[in-house]
Amino acid sequence: MKKTGKLISIVTAAIFAAMLLISCGALEAKPPQADGERTTAPDAAEASAPDGPMETVPVETSAPSGILTVYFSCTGNTETIAGWIQEALGGDLFQIRTADAYPEDYDELLETARQEQEAGARPALSGRVEHMEAYDTVFIGYPIWWADMPMAVYTFLEEYDLSGKTVIPFCTHGSSGFSGTQEAIAALQPGAELREGIAVRGGQAADSREEVIGWLAGLGLEGAAAGTAAASGGEIRVRFSFDGGEAAAVLNDTPTVQSLLAQLPATVTMSDYAGAEKIAYFAEALTDEGAPEGYDPQIGDVACYGPWGNMAVFYNDQPYAEGLCPMGKIESGMDLLAALPEDASVTVERIG
Ligand SMILES: Cc1cc2nc3c(=O)[nH]c(=O)nc-3n(C[C@H](O)[C@H](O)[C@H](O)COP(=O)(O)O)c2cc1C
Repeated sequence: MKKTGKLISIVTAAIFAAMLLISCGALEAKPPQADGERTTAPDAAEASAPDGPMETVPVETSAPSGILTVYFSCTGNTETIAGWIQEALGGDLFQIRTADAYPEDYDELLETARQEQEAGARPALSGRVEHMEAYDTVFIGYPIWWADMPMAVYTFLEEYDLSGKTVIPFCTHGSSGFSGTQEAIAALQPGAELREGIAVRGGQAADSREEVIGWLAGLGLEGAAAGTAAASGGEIRVRFSFDGGEAAAVLNDTPTVQSLLAQLPATVTMSDYAGAEKIAYFAEALTDEGAPEGYDPQIGDVACYGPWGNMAVFYNDQPYAEGLCPMGKIESGMDLLAALPEDASVTVERIG
């Protein structure tokens, strides 16, 4: 890091320290969460095709367009941003957790972090990303601690080789901004393509959703436009009506969704697939034009399986599947849809 940059970082850290002295009583730290990782990256056991016709379709453990959002967060601000990124773009979420929990007391946390930084510590982590090769875009989020990344984020960045991937940092801070941490990531991952990140003040994290979605849209990530458009309010809503109730979904504005909307309202037969999906065929096959090669669906997702041109609603977890393209999410009535009897008659209509 250049001398002037370091000087600015030291000054901002000093300002932060002074602010702390003034406002210490008002600050409250949430304890770090219990050990364990939160990732849905496909693992070897999950990567086999489910029973039924989809068996013939190759299912890969590697998702060429996969997005992983990695974050470290002690008091929840960075976690909030990470959640929005995943909500807008899909993909998987992984929380960096240390084997030894950080102190709950804020002053002790400050002191522990300071000592770790002084010692150049690399705290052991308690989980791993099982299939890093499945991702080509990795968001990495962290709070600024003493004008730097928490040492645990260094542990993470030194454990993985992100060469060939697009790496996009985001941070939350008291006042320091990135404090040269983007440069630190570039130095640790020289083979990665680093994109311009976003720095959000911790105190404003909860109100920064629009700013974050705007930044995501500006990154121009392939296949991300629809997700960010939906997240920013340009929503398309459909209702599923059936004997015994209804459900609603928010859909992304994609060619696939447009090919569905062009056929609505429509009454279709919904049947079960692999004990995990409710699938339906419309009069015309849905298009998978412009869709990613595949993706890892989450429970509640509405998707199209391109080779069959049908629509699937996921009520159980399924692994990454090539040919699957995201359409949107169920926002209400998921339980009712999941409980539909076989070959139920369902009317689908646009409501927004
Ligand atoms: C140990 C520690 C050191 C911090 N050092 C700085 C700092 O140097 N500059 C700054 O602007 N904020 C600093 N902060 C404030 C955090 O960056 C900010 O509260 C952040 O949003 C916390 O993120 P989290 O809620 O995801 O843990 C520090 C906070 C802690 C706990």
